[in-house]
Amino acid sequence: MIGTHNIVWFEEIDSTNTQLMNDRHTLDNLTVYAAYFQRAGRGQRGNRWESKRGENLTFSILFKPDNIPANEQFIISKAVALGVTDYMIQHGVECRIKWPNDIYYKDLKICGILIENGIACDKLTYSIAGIGININQEIFDSNAPNPTSLKLLTRKEYDIRKELTDVVSYISERYKQAISQKGGKLEKDYLDLLYRKGEYHRYLDNATGESLEARIIGLDNQGLLMVETVEGEIRAYAFKEIGYVI
Ligand code: BTN
Repeated sequence: MIGTHNIVWFEEIDSTNTQLMNDRHTLDNLTVYAAYFQRAGRGQRGNRWESKRGENLTFSILFKPDNIPANEQFIISKAVALGVTDYMIQHGVECRIKWPNDIYYKDLKICGILIENGIACDKLTYSIAGIGININQEIFDSNAPNPTSLKLLTRKEYDIRKELTDVVSYISERYKQAISQKGGKLEKDYLDLLYRKGEYHRYLDNATGESLEARIIGLDNQGLLMVETVEGEIRAYAFKEIGYVI
């Protein structure tokens, strides 16, 4: 137990998300599994998450909310993305949230988040947020798009164990807001920190293959991304239905 959080460090593991998923029944809300090295780190869309041994944060947090309806599950993504962004801003790195939950500095990716939810009786019973934050790594040899790290941006070396307790505190604070009916603040902060909000950029409609010029105008109440094309058409996209051209 460190601070108010139950953090378990693994020297090496397949994936903190997978292990937390397997162990979740016996673990408390806000348990954290962290690893120095993942043999099979998982990313979004079935990709692998590559991270050099001991250089970065690769961890997962278990949430066991008791009052989040299934159709409001995106609030967990918001809380986690905002917690990571708060942490980055405290280090002087003005990050943005690339919907739904990547964290970018300018056009560079510093953190990826993989959320896996359990639903029963229209309620969110558990949520596992797997978070990979590039901390000390300077050379990236995988196919990751536009990676950066805290060290590359601030020219400082970090103690990853200390950084973990810090970032977990920020995420817990945002989680408290999510479950305490203070969702309004979360919504506002998430929109304020949305990558590319209000600016025209090029996107790909993954269903039709169409390339479009559009600007992000917000989210609907299900968490779909609302964009307005240059022609003035308003469209709503689910995750994977739209691609950013960066
Ligand atoms: C992405 O593709 O951007 C999401 C990456 C999520 C990686 C983290 S690292 C800790 C946790 N365990 C995993 O296997 N994946 C997540």
